[in-house]
Amino acid sequence: MRILVTQTIDESGMARLNSAGLDVDVWLGSSPIPRDELLRRVSGCVGIIPMPTDLIDGQVMDAADLSVIANHAVGTDNVDLAAAAARGILVTNTPDVLTDATADLAMALLLSAARRVVEGDALVRSGDFEGWCPTLLRGTDLAGATLGIVGKGRIGSAVAHRAAAFGMEIIHSSRTSGLPLEALLESADVVSLHCPLTAATHHLIDATALGRMKKTAILINTARGPVVDEAALVSALSTGQIAAAGLDVYEAEPQVHPGLIELHNVVLLPHLGSATRATRRHMADLVADNLIAVLGGHPPLNPVTAECP
Ligand code: DGY
Repeated sequence: MRILVTQTIDESGMARLNSAGLDVDVWLGSSPIPRDELLRRVSGCVGIIPMPTDLIDGQVMDAADLSVIANHAVGTDNVDLAAAAARGILVTNTPDVLTDATADLAMALLLSAARRVVEGDALVRSGDFEGWCPTLLRGTDLAGATLGIVGKGRIGSAVAHRAAAFGMEIIHSSRTSGLPLEALLESADVVSLHCPLTAATHHLIDATALGRMKKTAILINTARGPVVDEAALVSALSTGQIAAAGLDVYEAEPQVHPGLIELHNVVLLPHLGSATRATRRHMADLVADNLIAVLGGHPPLNPVTAECP
């Protein structure tokens, strides 16, 4: 049984795939597999392990003979779930194993943006640091500040837990509980996004939403880039509509809005949410176990359906 893995994954997951006797084709490029290469290589495959950067739509499904799409991510916005369901293809993801790593990274961005860590680092490297100064790079206190969590699932809850240890007051807004988004945006000192990307959350944070935030507020996005209207964010950050941002994800990843690159009040990371050695090993193990289960005629460990991404 032939399967395609669209980027090199942790060797532990690869070992599981190989010991299951699968014929494993791996795209060895260091950047995402080009679309034409994906369509060519998936032909004849019964399973695929795509990355969150790979669009797995009906065209890819029809180019193959897939029984399973074992997505190497918890988010499945890159997979057309309805198209998969219509073709009887099972989709799986990697929940739980990346919760702590992603929550840690959200805190890293929050602390970096609040305490101007990257600006401070740049100042020291530039040779312009002239000594301790009462007015140098003053940032935002976290103790007593209000953190607004948008989407309080596993990762949002883990961020809330961490932020509480820093003395932050936590409020949240989600589909089923918490404050209306408008109220959260108006009262939060830091807004951290943890909702999945769906039609309903595309550009959830647009010019109007940014306009509701405090001028001293900080926006953190470790969810998915298109949840934020990037052009509107550039404008809000450059005009002082909000104070700062920390981003791990981008609207047209890997492209980053050129306006963001110019700004000093935004910290930019290259989608590192789950990027720890242990987490990437657990993710690779989980995609392998899901794929092997389905191809072996067993139920998947982490099924994803159109209703419950
Ligand atoms: C996910 O799992 O959705 C992450 O963004 C991948 O690192």
